[in-house]
Amino acid sequence: MLKQLPIESGQTVLDLGCGPGLVSARLATRCASVIGIDREADFLEAARRHCPAKCGFVEADLAELDSLELRPANGMWSSFTAAYFPAFEPVLASWAACVKPGGWLAIVEIDDLLAGHHPLPVEIQRAFKEFTEHMRLNGLYDFRMGRRLGKMCRALGLTVVSETALEDRELAFDGEASPEILAAWKRRFERMSSMRAYFGARRFNEISQEFLETISSPAHYSTASVVMVLAMRPE
Ligand SMILES: C[S@@+](CC[C@H](N)C(=O)[O-])C[C@H]1O[C@@H](n2cnc3c(N)ncnc32)[C@H](O)[C@@H]1O
Repeated sequence: MLKQLPIESGQTVLDLGCGPGLVSARLATRCASVIGIDREADFLEAARRHCPAKCGFVEADLAELDSLELRPANGMWSSFTAAYFPAFEPVLASWAACVKPGGWLAIVEIDDLLAGHHPLPVEIQRAFKEFTEHMRLNGLYDFRMGRRLGKMCRALGLTVVSETALEDRELAFDGEASPEILAAWKRRFERMSSMRAYFGARRFNEISQEFLETISSPAHYSTASVVMVLAMRPE
């Protein structure tokens, strides 16, 4: 994905929802400076520790980016963060305003993280549907954000250069999960506190176990995808 970016050595690039700065550090190898923004202080502390000095990090809520009065950047990267904003269009408009006219935006998000793995038992599919609707309607997370990105960019007048759906060896793959990928999914379920709270511990354990069995089967296939939209802000 990073190879597709029109990033240049003199540019300043934003990394919105930078987390612990893994991508910020990679962006920094190809531009003059990176500004990573996230609301989690612990992530930012880790990012400051391991990223080069040309990366700066700011603790802020990405729904209120206008209040930071940032100098417009040449480009903006955001991976796996858009889904936290089910009403994303106005948020994206405020992000795009932080990019200079003629600058680029790259947004990466998963589509159908949970229900996009098959063959899941019908009652587990139903449980995922119920939970993902609950998260979306309560403004917490949109599990199907990936498919919405291109359309939203166009609605805001951005020029979509490419919209790519990619396989991912952990999030969107076919066949039996390797022990390493299975362990990563177990850790993901351990972090899913909203889902545990929604279903209660016993039901949550049953659902996550069924999911892990599905991705451990040779018959497993995925319709989930990781979507990347690359867009330009018109001059
Ligand atoms: C799944 S992580 C992605 C981290 C990184 N971009 C990556 O690709 O590895 C999502 C990040 O978005 C941040 N985030 C979610 N909602 C936010 C908000 N309203 N304001 C600021 N950061 C937010 C989280 O703190 C987290 O670091």
